[in-house]
Formats: sequence, C-alpha cells, structure tokens
Amino acid sequence: MHTDGETTGTVVSHITCRSCGETYDLDLTEFPCRECGGILDPQYDYDALDITPEEWAARGDSMWDYRELLPVRDPDAIVSMGEGATPLVNAPRLAEDLGVDGLWFKDEGQNPTNTFKDRGQAAAISCANEQGVTDVALNSAGNAGQSASAYAARAGMNCHVFLNHQAGKVKKSLVRAHGADLHLQEGKIGDAGAAFTEAAAEHGWYSVKTFQTPYRHEGKKTMGYEVFEAFEWSSPDHIVYPTGGGVGLIGIWKAYQELRELGWLDADPPKLHVAQTTGAAPVVEAIEEGREEHEPWENPDSIARGVEIPDPGASPWMLEAVFESGGTGVTVSDEEAFDASLVAAREAGVEMCVTSAVALAGTMELAAEGVFGPDEDVVVINTGAGAKTASKIGKHAANSKKGA
Ligand SMILES: Cc1ncc(COP(=O)(O)O)c(C=O)c1O
Ligand SMILES: [Zn+2]
Repeated sequence: MHTDGETTGTVVSHITCRSCGETYDLDLTEFPCRECGGILDPQYDYDALDITPEEWAARGDSMWDYRELLPVRDPDAIVSMGEGATPLVNAPRLAEDLGVDGLWFKDEGQNPTNTFKDRGQAAAISCANEQGVTDVALNSAGNAGQSASAYAARAGMNCHVFLNHQAGKVKKSLVRAHGADLHLQEGKIGDAGAAFTEAAAEHGWYSVKTFQTPYRHEGKKTMGYEVFEAFEWSSPDHIVYPTGGGVGLIGIWKAYQELRELGWLDADPPKLHVAQTTGAAPVVEAIEEGREEHEPWENPDSIARGVEIPDPGASPWMLEAVFESGGTGVTVSDEEAFDASLVAAREAGVEMCVTSAVALAGTMELAAEGVFGPDEDVVVINTGAGAKTASKIGKHAANSKKGA
C-alpha cells in the first residue's frame, strides 16, 4: 500500500447518528450512539476529494486503493493484509442457463481469512489502532469473529470473540489459532450477543460488532467501488446479496450513493436484492409487506448461519437500499442453498460456503420469476469461500449422488 506522505488523504470529517442526528468527532471510541443507541455513520467532505476514478483504477492493490473515502487518517495505523481487490469471476454457462447476458461472482472468498468480513474488520481494527485501543470485542455468527481475531493479532491487540456453540468448526479453530479469547455460548446469535454486551460493558472493550462500530460498512463499501470499476465506471443491472445484519448490502448502497454524489456515475445504481433462507427471513418479509422496518423473526433455524439473523437492527437502512434501488427479496431453503453451492462449483468452478450459496440459490429463483431481462448483467456476491463449510458441502454432494 502506498500513501502520499503523512495522511491517507481521506476526506472523512465526522460521524453522525442515523437515528437522532447527533454528531461526534473521529476520536469517538464508545459505540453505538450514546444519546439513543442508533447506528453511527462516518461523513465525508466530498467537495474536498482530490482524485479521479482513473487514478483509483490505476492503483489496484487492495481496498485501501480507496483510502480517500475510508475513515482512517494516519497511514501508519492501517492494519492490512491486502484485503479487497477481489476478482469478478464470470460464469457464462450459468448465465445461459439463467437467461441473462452476464452472471458474475464477486469472489470475496479470496480475502485473507476467506470472507468479505476482512474488509469490515480491516477498517474497524485500523480505526481502533489509530485510537491506541488494546482490546477489541464482538459477537458474531463466526466469520466476523475469525476475521477480527486475525486483524487484532496483526495489530498486537487482544480480541474477545463471542460465538455460539453452533458456529462452524473452521471459524472456532481459527479464532483459537489467532490467539483470541473465545467465549462459546449456548443458544443462538442473540445469546452470544447478550453475553458480549455484558462483558464489553464490564471491561470497557472497544466494539467491532456489526453496526456498533461505525466502520465495518465503510470497509465493505469498497466492494461497491470495485464493482463500479469492473463495470467500466458504471453498474451491473442487479446485485444479489446473502443478507444477515446487512453490513455489505448497506456498504454497497453507500458506495453507489457516494459515486452519484461525486458525479462519477451516469447510470442508475444496481438493483439490490436481499437473499435469505425460509428459516430466517425478517428482511424479505418486510420487503414483501412494504414495511420500513422488520419484525423480529421467531425461532430462526438455518444451516446458513451468517444469514440466520432474527433481529437485524439496520433493517430500515437495508429496506431503503432495496426500495430505492428497485430491488426485491427472495427466500430459499437450506437444501436449495446446498444445491446452489454445487451448481457454482460444477458450472463455474467457484467455491461458495453455504451462507453465500443462499445468494446464488436466490439468483436462480429470481431468474425463474422473470426478475432479470435477457440483456442484463447480474452480480452474485460470493461472500465466503467453500472451504469455510467444506465438510457440509461434501456430505451434501455425496448424499445427492446416492439419491440420483
Ligand atoms: C459468508 C457470509 N455471508 C453473508 C453474511 C451476512 O453479512 P451481512 O451482515 O453483511 O448481512 C455473513 C455474516 O456472518 C457471512 O459470514
Ligand atoms: Zn443517536
């Protein structure tokens, strides 16, 4: 990563609360909004931006190519392992099967800990590092915990990770490998969340949890910039996203709004589609009912743990992104997600974990419903690599062979 001197050149200015409008300076270390508990969102002085999209595109190293629109000011504070700059992998056979012009995977499995979570944690841990923080903490379905452990280890910080017993083996093993302090809880993600909240308050840990830190959606918005660049400074017609807490969906939406604000985007932003499972679909339910906020989902139940999120606090922002972009929602069964992971592996060579395969299964369903036109381009965000859930996918492949 190359920076030009003593600052990153960022035009970040302050932080605002999306609910009550309170403003904070960038040295804030207590999240979320202390006035109302609302989501904190970094703001930028777009008029001060002194870079062109051509200059951005010429870099091509990592998500820090876009450092002018990221929240870190001190280049030495950046904690990076080259995250981002992931390929857009085309899948022509699948495009033909689905009756679209182009079908692309944004392959986030190729990040340092094999998921898109690395973009969010690289941003959040770099901001923590800039503030001299020693202990970071979060609860997570698994992948964000693994990613935070890796970045905290790299920065020399302690990391406290709260997961459920049900979290996948790969994530638990690698959290331990990075030397993090792992707390395993009975129950679902909400139970790990309650344990995290209590311990974080007691010890004063710095939060890198979904939509407590103001910075994870900032890191993830770089997916939107990269897609914009790959589509020659324009947008695909559709993006399908496996949606849990919505950090990536909102990040991509924010990226496209910024690109419009900067006058760099002539076309419409992509239509953003939410894919969830039938076992936990609070956001899709809200989309179908045209509501501005979700209702908490009772008894969430899906193998796709990353999207088994019953009560996502950022749903109003997600719903704004879906409705304003002209997107929609789709649910699939766990079985359909497993089948889709085999379709990606066999038709395109692309390895998807079960959670990200929810997006491909959703894409197949949306294609069957006629949501995509024959001249349109569709991007599926492959949020995590197949290696994350390889044994489950392998079992499914063996069983489907027996059944055939
Ligand atoms: C592989 C994978 N995909 C998608 C998600 C959902 O992420 P988001 O919070 O951005 O909706 C997760 C979250 O754990 C995940 O691990
Ligand atoms: Zn507030």
